[in-house]
Amino acid sequence: MALSDFERYPLTFGPSPVHELPRLSAHLGGARIWAKREDVNSGLAFGGNKTRKLEYIVPDAIAQGADTLVSIGGYQSNHTRQVAAVAAKLGMKARLVQENWVDWPDPLSDRVGNIQLSRIMGADVRLDAAGFDIGIRSSWEAAIKDVEDAGGKPYPIPAGASEHRLGGLGFANWAYEFQQQEAELGIFFDTIVVCTVTGSTHAGMIAGFAGQDRPRRVIGIDASATIEKTRAQVGRIARHTAELIGLGRELREEEITVLEGWAGDFYGIPVESTLDAIRLTGSLEGMIVDPVYEGKSMAGLIDLVRSRDIPASSNVLYAHLGGQPALSAYSGLFR
Ligand SMILES: Cc1ncc(COP(=O)(O)O)c(C=O)c1O
Repeated sequence: MALSDFERYPLTFGPSPVHELPRLSAHLGGARIWAKREDVNSGLAFGGNKTRKLEYIVPDAIAQGADTLVSIGGYQSNHTRQVAAVAAKLGMKARLVQENWVDWPDPLSDRVGNIQLSRIMGADVRLDAAGFDIGIRSSWEAAIKDVEDAGGKPYPIPAGASEHRLGGLGFANWAYEFQQQEAELGIFFDTIVVCTVTGSTHAGMIAGFAGQDRPRRVIGIDASATIEKTRAQVGRIARHTAELIGLGRELREEEITVLEGWAGDFYGIPVESTLDAIRLTGSLEGMIVDPVYEGKSMAGLIDLVRSRDIPASSNVLYAHLGGQPALSAYSGLFR
């Protein structure tokens, strides 16, 4: 099978915008930096990377006759907010397990930002005291059973839509969409930088780019602070997705690069480099990145460009995956 054989339910405006970040590039004095913007990819509750993954999952939910999307994430999960938006759009219900993934002392973290948006969109939001884990959780399995017991038809979507058979397809498609945009611009990007946590964004890109003619580095920046788990998960999903879209060869180890060093000690807790990256990107480009994900991957990109690990001759693409609504739950950071 090829990627084009999979049904896609459009939830985005179309190809996400690609533009240069000239003031950030000049400030760092190295590679030319551009961004591709999933934070403005859709009109559904601010969009983001999960909206693109869901484009390939929705046809399966509809085919199965589901009436309730059941998913899980932290209190400030961008993923569950996008699931709530898609459920609303489809006329389905959303049942969301929101776990206490982050030990962050903001008294409003279970009320503002993403969780507020999910509630506005009518999702059935249930708080759970469990901590951060990207694996399959019993609370999520219990929520699925709950929906069934009440006579509903649940459609399970795991954390970040990553451990889902079709979870990598959205970003395999992204890689082909970008190849087309590159051709229109007449510029080749030898390096892509992307934030990695549950893995299928980065993994899908790896699978999609692997089928193209020109090799490039697709660098995942770990924001989970559980590097071994993340590497294993990205590798597994990348290989599975590559097989699904008929790549016709095994992925090589060097095609799967997840770098550590910018996550700090914990998922969801920003460190100094995160805050510096947020301020720098905001003040030079008016582009907002969040303290959980994109601020960490931007910190990685800044260091890699400064140190010339990414050479000055490179065109580098920063994949902006969204996530700004969580900023409200970090109000104490920028007083
Ligand atoms: C804004 C943002 N960036 C990056 C990620 C990481 O993507 P993934 O979970 O597919 O690795 C997520 C979700 O986890 C996210 O919401």
